Amino acid sequence: MKPAPAPKGATGLDGGAEVPRAIPKHVAIIMDGNGRWAQQRGLPRVAGHKAGAEAVRRAIQSAADHGVEALTLYAFSSENWRRSAEEIADLTGLMRFYLERELATLAKEGVRLKLIGDYSAFGPDLMSRLERAVERTADNRRLTLVIALNYGSRAEIAAAARTLADRAAKGEIDAQAVDEEAIAAELQTHGLPDLDLLIRTSGEVRLSNFLLWQAAYAELLFLDTLWPDFDEQAFASALEHFAARERRFGGRGAAA
Ligand code: FPP
Repeated sequence: MKPAPAPKGATGLDGGAEVPRAIPKHVAIIMDGNGRWAQQRGLPRVAGHKAGAEAVRRAIQSAADHGVEALTLYAFSSENWRRSAEEIADLTGLMRFYLERELATLAKEGVRLKLIGDYSAFGPDLMSRLERAVERTADNRRLTLVIALNYGSRAEIAAAARTLADRAAKGEIDAQAVDEEAIAAELQTHGLPDLDLLIRTSGEVRLSNFLLWQAAYAELLFLDTLWPDFDEQAFASALEHFAARERRFGGRGAAA
């Protein structure tokens, strides 16, 4: 990764006057299409995941370069356990490999790693490597990289409801005080900026149990591009779409 440049596209010409261009603070991506990318080339699925991991590196770099504050990536859903044991091993192996290879770069470039989802399911070795990476990057501020691992949005919301119900049963809080803010504070994304832009690649038009609560006011962008082909230009173009939609609809509150 390169040193921090001024955010790209932070200003633009609009009606002759220099006006700030809307940069999403928080971008999330459902990275889909690795398998089809490999299939189109007559390659094994793992080759698609390897190319997908390279696209992850590019997306992190792009997010940092454009001044995005948080990038959340759906790396492994709770439904992904239905895949073959071989493919799961390939995916976790790739994660371990990239974590080791990229950690120094993430730390150097000011990227803070955060995890959401029940990543303990990946076993003690990967779990402790992930937690070490989180600790090592904890003080970084340029970009928060959130990796969703064994994540499911309904499970996340159910866990928040359980915690609040427990507290109410113990008399620690009043059940009537459970509002949107109280639930949001129990979600694993608490403390991150509101989700502004959610991208899904590969032509599928659904959320697949990803950030259901957080996406309430987000712009949704569904692209035909297969994830391994998602490059710097695709990232910049997604930001252009976001800026154009922001200009058309005005404030996010008004669009609700
Ligand atoms: C979807 O492709 C993608 C995934 C299941 C996971 C994403 C994983 C990576 C990008 C690689 C490693 C990750 C990191 C964080 C280094 P798919 O297999 O569902 O594609 P298909 O729908 O075409 O079969």
